[in-house]
Order: sequence, then structure tokens, then C-alpha cells
Amino acid sequence: MKIIGLRSSAGLAEKVADQLHSELVMPDERRFPDGELYLRYDTDMSGEDVFIIGNTHTDGEIMEMILTLSAVRDYAVKSVNIIAPYYGYARQHQRYKRGEPISSQILTEIFATYSRSIATVDIHDEQTLSYSKVKFTNLHADRSIIDFYRNVDIDYIVSPDDGGLERVKHVAESLGKKYFYIEKKRIDDRTVEMKAPDIDIRGKKVLILDDIISTGGTIAKSSSILRQKGASRIYVSAIHGLFVNSSESKILENADEIHVTDTVSGKFSDISVYQVVSDYINGLYA
Ligand code: R5P
Repeated sequence: MKIIGLRSSAGLAEKVADQLHSELVMPDERRFPDGELYLRYDTDMSGEDVFIIGNTHTDGEIMEMILTLSAVRDYAVKSVNIIAPYYGYARQHQRYKRGEPISSQILTEIFATYSRSIATVDIHDEQTLSYSKVKFTNLHADRSIIDFYRNVDIDYIVSPDDGGLERVKHVAESLGKKYFYIEKKRIDDRTVEMKAPDIDIRGKKVLILDDIISTGGTIAKSSSILRQKGASRIYVSAIHGLFVNSSESKILENADEIHVTDTVSGKFSDISVYQVVSDYINGLYA
């Protein structure tokens, strides 16, 4: 088995390779003068199951994945498997208006043509899985979050909308904490209206847990509401921390700490999903 670590996921791929006692393979990469990506793999992968760990969020990451799928075919590999910890474009998993692409469908169809299996972590909507003709597994990072907060003094775990309630319920029940959700109405891409339930949280320590921090609007507003209601300490966590336009500064106006997983690496990604990914790979051989 070989683990390939693309740029977006090099740290996570290294941990997975360590855990599985496998060789970590990195591409040699450079840019052509016109900006196009060149890459090459100089490691013999003949006869190996190859697991490519890399996100498919930015256009550059998608291109790196596609070129890698082609490059590894030059070795007589046993199989090629994609693990995209953050599966991009999953929010456009259906056509909302005439003339739009179903972005996650076309990407998935391309990836499935050149791989034996695909896996991701907490995809935004599982409809995307149905677009794959190969096995497509949605892994869950809940246990990484639970392990991280096991010894942290928290009173309530809060979902910033009802859609995330199942995850919050599971994490809260595993940690023996109380939980609730905030009612959220999305007005447009950047504006949300939110209303907390009538629960007394004065002097309480709360953890707000969501699937994605993108512009940070949802989490910033939730933090502000909970602070106004008297929360004494506010932890913020999400599976995927994108932090568009440095949104951490508006979150930290009210929140005390931010911890996200390393599906997207960044300065707050101190919760690792390497065990979840490693167990998934091991499970394929069970
Ligand atoms: C919404 O359905 C998701 O669970 C997140 O709450 C949302 O994607 C977060 O986006 P933003 O950080 O831009 O508010």
C-alpha cells in the first residue's frame, strides 16, 4: 500500500501513513511559466493499492487530484483510491435553477471513472454519494471531536441550526452534556437570522459545533447570541474550517477558542481525523 499526500492534506496523509506503517509518497510539483501545474511521481507503485489523500475544494486541488489520477496509471498499480477529507462543491449537489451545473455530480463522475473507491469526511449532503459508480463512503469525524473535548469542562453543546442537531446530540450524549439548537434562517449567501431557545445559560460554558465554517457568519452570530445570553466561555468547533476572508476575527469577537479538524489544514485545525481515515483503510482489508 502507498499513501499519496497532496498539498492540501500533507499533514494528515503523513499521520495516516505513520499509523498504517505505509510509505508516504509526495508529488514533485512545479508550475509552468504560464501557471499550469506540472507534477510527477518518482516512486515505483507497481502492484500496490494506492490511496490519494487530498481535498477537492479549490480549483487547484481538483486539478492536482485529476493529474494524480492520471500519473499513477503509469505504474501498474493494483488499485487507486481517493480520500478527499473535504469534498468540495458538495453544496451544489442538485440543480436549483435552470442552466446551473450539478457540480458535485460531474466531479464525482470524473473521480469515479479513474478510481476503485472514494471516501470523504462528513460531506455536506449525502446525495453526492449517489453520483458515484464506485463505492463512495462518508466517514464521520464525531469521535475525533468527542476525544478532543472529553476532558474539557463544558455545560452545553449547541448546534447553530436544526440541520446539525443529530451530530450535536450524538457528541453531547457521548460526553454526557446537555444540548440545544439555535433556530437559523438563511437570508442569502452572507446573511443569516438566528434565534436561541429560552434556556438560561448565564455563567455556563458552551461549545458551538457545526459541520462547516465558511464565511463564519453562522458561528459568529451564534457566539454573539450566546454571549448576550450570558455564556461565560464559548468554544467553537466544526469539522471543516474554511475561514473564508479570515473570518476567524469576527468569530473571536465573542468566542474564546476555535478548534476544527484537519480535513482542511489551518491554524485552528488541532483535532485530527487520522484515526478515522486509518480505520477506514484498514477496514477495506478486513
Ligand atoms: C449550513 O447548512 C452549514 O451547516 C453551515 O452552518 C454553513 O455552511 C456555515 O457557513 P458560514 O460559515 O458561511 O455561515
